[in-house]
Amino acid sequence: MKSKLLAVLKENYPEYVSGEKLSGELSCSRTAVWKHIEKMRKEGYIIKAVRNRGYLLESSPEAFSAHAVASQLSDALLPYKINFYRELPSTQPEAQRLFLEGAGEGTVVIADSQTSGRGRLGREWQSGEGKGLAMSIILTPGIPPYKAPQLTLAAAVSIVKAVNKMTGIDMEIKWPNDLLVDGRKVCGILTEMQSDPDQVRSVIVGIGLNVKKDNFSGGLENTAVTLEEAAGREVDRADVAAAILMQFASDYKLFLDKGFKGLKKDWETHTCTLGRFVRVEQNGVYFTGKAESVDDQGVLQVRTEDGILHPVVSGDIELS
Ligand code: BTN
Repeated sequence: MKSKLLAVLKENYPEYVSGEKLSGELSCSRTAVWKHIEKMRKEGYIIKAVRNRGYLLESSPEAFSAHAVASQLSDALLPYKINFYRELPSTQPEAQRLFLEGAGEGTVVIADSQTSGRGRLGREWQSGEGKGLAMSIILTPGIPPYKAPQLTLAAAVSIVKAVNKMTGIDMEIKWPNDLLVDGRKVCGILTEMQSDPDQVRSVIVGIGLNVKKDNFSGGLENTAVTLEEAAGREVDRADVAAAILMQFASDYKLFLDKGFKGLKKDWETHTCTLGRFVRVEQNGVYFTGKAESVDDQGVLQVRTEDGILHPVVSGDIELS
């Protein structure tokens, strides 16, 4: 009842919803609606009530929980199952453990904080308590292993679109896995797979999003930014997690039907990589060139000064 009530109030925000409409949507009396509203106010929800207009949800306590996310996922195109933890070393090995125990596609691991959050290429990912979104999604796409990294690009597209719809922020995608706002990193994606020679067994897409103002350290204070700083308003982690999962479910279906090609236009619209001079690092070897395009497999094409086009399948780039 509470999640339905919240969903209707959120859907209609910033409009008031009449008691009559709520009682119709919830199939209960107006008195029952009013009693629920009173109960929610005691839990910290600020709900305005105005005669002849109805109810308006002004703010919610940040209740970051499995329910807060799952209650916003009805009609998702993936059978999401949310596993929520107050603290984990990292959501990635937990997702892997659940997969080995039989958890299927759409199983999601979310942690309020991680003590050993990990980034790409063995780097650390800082995820302090109550600050960010640390989420891993188990997928079993039945694709050959070379295609798994394309899921990083697909997830990047989904995150950009979901966050834009929710907050108006225009994130930019830095190939392959960074999302930036005004050149500062706000989100990173870590895609790990378990594979047989011809087909992946599972892909775990890990998403780390800086949401609340944080005390970054180790230089991140100059290079990282949070969604709340960029949006200039509060952002609820459960809402942003749900928005990303909803968007990702439909982009993932498109990916399964058409491959990265189906999402390439969106990726190109939101990237800050193409047309830029980049320094590429591949297994300790560096070269510089102009990032010209990505192909239908998500491979970055970098042209060096001598005119040769180099396909960059994996690696790290710096924009100059
Ligand atoms: C990167 O930018 O290098 C990728 C960062 C990925 C961080 C996320 S947070 C959720 C998941 N669990 C982890 O330990 N890492 C990923």
